[in-house]
Parts: sequence; structure tokens; C-alpha cells
Amino acid sequence: MARIVTLTLNPAVDKSTTADHIIPDQKLRCATPKFEPGGGGINVSRALKRLGADSIAVFPVGGPTGVLLQELLALEEIEQHPVHTVSRTRENFIVVDASSGQQYRFGMPGMLLDVEEQQQILTVLKGLTEIPEFLVISGSLPPGVEPEFLVRIVRAAKALGIKVVIDTSGPALHQVLNEGVYLAKPNVGELSKMAGVDELDNEAVAQAAHTLVRDGKCEIVVTSLGPQGACVVTKDLVDHIPAPAVKKRSTVGAGDSMVAGLVYGLLTGLGVRETVRLGIACGSAATMNPGTELFHKADAEKLYKWLLQNTMTAATAA
Ligand SMILES: Nc1ncnc2c1ncn2[C@@H]1O[C@H](COP(=O)(O)OP(=O)(O)OP(=O)(O)O)[C@@H](O)[C@H]1O
Ligand SMILES: [Mg+2]
Repeated sequence: MARIVTLTLNPAVDKSTTADHIIPDQKLRCATPKFEPGGGGINVSRALKRLGADSIAVFPVGGPTGVLLQELLALEEIEQHPVHTVSRTRENFIVVDASSGQQYRFGMPGMLLDVEEQQQILTVLKGLTEIPEFLVISGSLPPGVEPEFLVRIVRAAKALGIKVVIDTSGPALHQVLNEGVYLAKPNVGELSKMAGVDELDNEAVAQAAHTLVRDGKCEIVVTSLGPQGACVVTKDLVDHIPAPAVKKRSTVGAGDSMVAGLVYGLLTGLGVRETVRLGIACGSAATMNPGTELFHKADAEKLYKWLLQNTMTAATAA
């Protein structure tokens, strides 16, 4: 039985290809495209699978792209609870210029999720036969969805004793934190916005996260700092952990991979400090792969071991 449910309100199919040179006006001959499932929670489900944990992915789907999304997820053996929508699932486009190695990412607007469809999402979540331990809400909100809807979801989950993990941004993140969640994974830009400032240095990151914990908005705040690793704050702990040095190829999916590592750590009973290191290991391992590819388990395990051996001395009490 899956003890984790992921929710992706704004899923996508990611179509990626390469072209020799990207230049205007001429017809660009592209390689055979690769199709992958996309969207925050869906990526978390895929990354969890790599770590060996099953989850249930809840998401809206519509049109032929929606059918494709479901096929792709079935190939990865992800359990799905889709809600069918009138509008069609979006398809993002990613193209690598082979001459420069540069990647161009074209994100399409999300599909409309109307009020009735939103209600169905809530019904699916409330109707799960077994109550999961974690609900991971990840990604942006599509058109038609107000932050208040996420708040309703969080409220319903908390009433059932489910631990909510949130990885989103803007007003949605703000309102969900006002409701209070178990774990949040903002990046430093998202945390700065929450704190109402332009940027935060290391110490200010810990302070801003501490404020969230103190105000009861979150029990665990993991602020990801890209190549600088992450900072975890709970009521008992402040810990800055550097990311391991890796050969970075693409950072796409690093945040989602990190969230999967965090949830897997908590699910399997690791302590908070170990859990954050696993999250960093998964995030950094994801950057070692090109394009939209997530991490290889062996890379994540190796980096996790390195982090345990080299970074476990420096935590301070909060
Ligand atoms: N250049 C890098 N080198 C090594 N590790 C990295 C790099 N970029 C990201 N990571 C790893 O991935 C984790 C998450 O990255 P980041 O802080 O960029 O998240 P994010 O901004 O939420 O990403 P996303 O764009 O996927 O949402 C970091 O904590 C780190 O472990
Ligand atoms: Mg992110």
C-alpha cells in the first residue's frame, strides 16, 4: 500500500529533442522526440519509484496529451488517480542546440481546471481507501485555481492526520503556510519572497525559516540553495549542508528529486539531518543527468554516503 500521495494540479507532457543549430527562419531538423511525464508531484512520484517507494499520483488529465501522460506513467508503474477535465493537458517543449549544448525550455500555459473539476480532485483525495502518511503538493496552480483551493486540500488532509509536504511558490505557498504544514521546500528565491525581501544570505535564510517554524506555519523548513546545498530548520535544529561537487549537466528536476529524497527519508524513519542529506543527494544526482532526466539511484546513494561521512559535524541547536 502506498503511504504517499502526490498532487499535481498543473501536469504536463514534456517533449524534448535536439537540433544541430537553432537559427531563425530556416527549417530546423530535429531528432526523434522523447516524451516524459512532467509536473511537480508527478516527478516526485517518479523519483520516489527510483528510490523504491510506491506512491499514488493524483492529477487532472484531458485530451490526447492526457492519454499520453497516463500511458507514460503506466510505463513507469506509477499508480494513478486522474480526474478527467474538459481542457487538454499541456505539452511543454524542450530543445537542445547540439552545437552549443544549450537547452531551450518552452513552457506552455497550464490547462483550465474548473470549479467542478477541482471538487472532483478533493473528492478523490477524501475518497482514498487508505489514509496515506504523506501528501506531497508540488508545482504551480493552473488557470482557474485560487490558492484558497489548496488551503481547503491542506485542511482536509490535516483533519485526517496526513502530513502535508508543500513545494510551490507565490500566493499559493503563502496561504498554505498560513494554514500550517509539516514540511516546506522553498528555494532561496521563494523563501525571500515569503520574507518580503529581495535576497537572503545564509544567516538570513536560517532566520526566515526559523520565523516560519516559530509562527507554526511549518515543522520542517528545507530551503534549497542550488549548488550551495540546503539549510534545514526545525524547532530544535539549524543545519547548513553544502551540496557535493558534481559534474552538472542539467538542473531540471533537481527540486522535485530533492522533495522525493526528503519524503523517502522521513517515510523510512531517518532523522531530520540524514533526511536532508538524502534530499540533497537526490537533487545533486539529478543535476548529473542531461535534459529532463531525474537521478540514478546509484548516484544518489553514493552522494548520500559522502554527505554522511563529510558533513555531519556542524549542526547548531536552534
Ligand atoms: N549546480 C548544482 N550542483 C550541485 N547540486 C545542485 C545544483 N543545483 C541544484 N542542486 C541540488 O538540487 C537541490 C535543489 O536545487 P534548487 O535549489 O535549484 O531547487 P529548485 O530551485 O526548487 O529547483 P527546481 O527548478 O527544480 O524547482 C539543491 O539543494 C542541490 O542539492
Ligand atoms: Mg522548486
